[in-house]
Amino acid sequence: MDSVFGKLSKEDFLANYWQKKPLVIRGAFPDFEMPFTAEELAGLACDTDAPSRMIIEYGLPPENKPWQVKVAPFEDEDFTTLPDSHCTFLVNDLERYIPELGNIIEPFRFIPDWRIDDLMVSYAEDQGSVGPHTDDYDVFLIQGQGKRRWKVITREDYNKVLIPDLPIAILKEFDEDEDWLLETGDMLYLPPNTPHYGIAEGACFTFSVGFQAPRTVDLVQNWLETFSKDATFNKRFTDKNRTLQSNSGEITQNDLEILSSMMLNAIKDQQSGLNVFLGKQLTETRGETPQADDYLDDFELDDQVDYERESWLRLAYIEEKNTIHFFADGHHLALASDKKSAIQKLCENYYFTAESLKTLMASYEFRDFFKVLIKEGGITVAS
Ligand code: SIN
Ligand code: CO
Repeated sequence: MDSVFGKLSKEDFLANYWQKKPLVIRGAFPDFEMPFTAEELAGLACDTDAPSRMIIEYGLPPENKPWQVKVAPFEDEDFTTLPDSHCTFLVNDLERYIPELGNIIEPFRFIPDWRIDDLMVSYAEDQGSVGPHTDDYDVFLIQGQGKRRWKVITREDYNKVLIPDLPIAILKEFDEDEDWLLETGDMLYLPPNTPHYGIAEGACFTFSVGFQAPRTVDLVQNWLETFSKDATFNKRFTDKNRTLQSNSGEITQNDLEILSSMMLNAIKDQQSGLNVFLGKQLTETRGETPQADDYLDDFELDDQVDYERESWLRLAYIEEKNTIHFFADGHHLALASDKKSAIQKLCENYYFTAESLKTLMASYEFRDFFKVLIKEGGITVAS
């Protein structure tokens, strides 16, 4: 596919817009065709556990409260009783449930896979919107069918106050300095924390490619958890060289030093494993952890067939000296660096021919690793 940025190069986009300022690209997806109808989307929400929600601006009786939110599970009646304007229905993780839609994400894979979160779609009736708000992640908003007006604040000094007591975060004041009407195939990029307000003009579909940006606290907490049982972390404070102190209330500099070195040294000892931790963490699938299928316990790998990767299975690698650390959904495998190009191809593609897997299949460690991915459903024999 041609670049969705038209004449703008990906390098220019990264240098001038990514995480910096909004960008509208007209006709980014020329001849865009909706892959499903509103009824089919409602069917998907009813029949699967895809995370979905409805946002109704003027609420529904009996509450009649503004900005009411209904979350999955949904039934047919939830859709037949909806007002015919000012409401939006949103479904996340679409690429997991309709793998072909991976082709909407594909043009954005010049940003590394581990940064890409999911594909969301919204279906709005006329004037439907999720209200003026900010998101703390980057997003590409692609207009599917119909039209949506995007009002955007590009200034940093906007009023951040939210309307109190609402189930969703809606900005109290919104005075936009940009106003773009997006039509089918047009795209809007928004950096994190850019106030935006998208209002449907007639019924419309909007796709969002959202990105993940890990929070420091989550990384640190999860990292600590991986070694909290290690001996160095379970050692207790000792003070056999204690000398007499004049006031029993004082925590002395000497004690503080022992305590802080005990903590910092234990962490320092773990630093060599930090990259592997990050590789595992960043490829881990959100939501439910796939369960190994016990029926596949004794299966043999067939080297003659092609395999496919499910769109939710995140693969990544880290290159380190003579080792390629390969990661898949939180699992890790260290391989010799002569496997680099084979691992790179694996990470790039979703379809693996028997021929393309040959080098890797020669490694017993890789075979075992691959079998785990098959057992967890991330890899399947190609149909
Ligand atoms: C929408 O598609 O209606 C909402 C997307 C967003 O504002 O982030
Ligand atoms: Co938003």
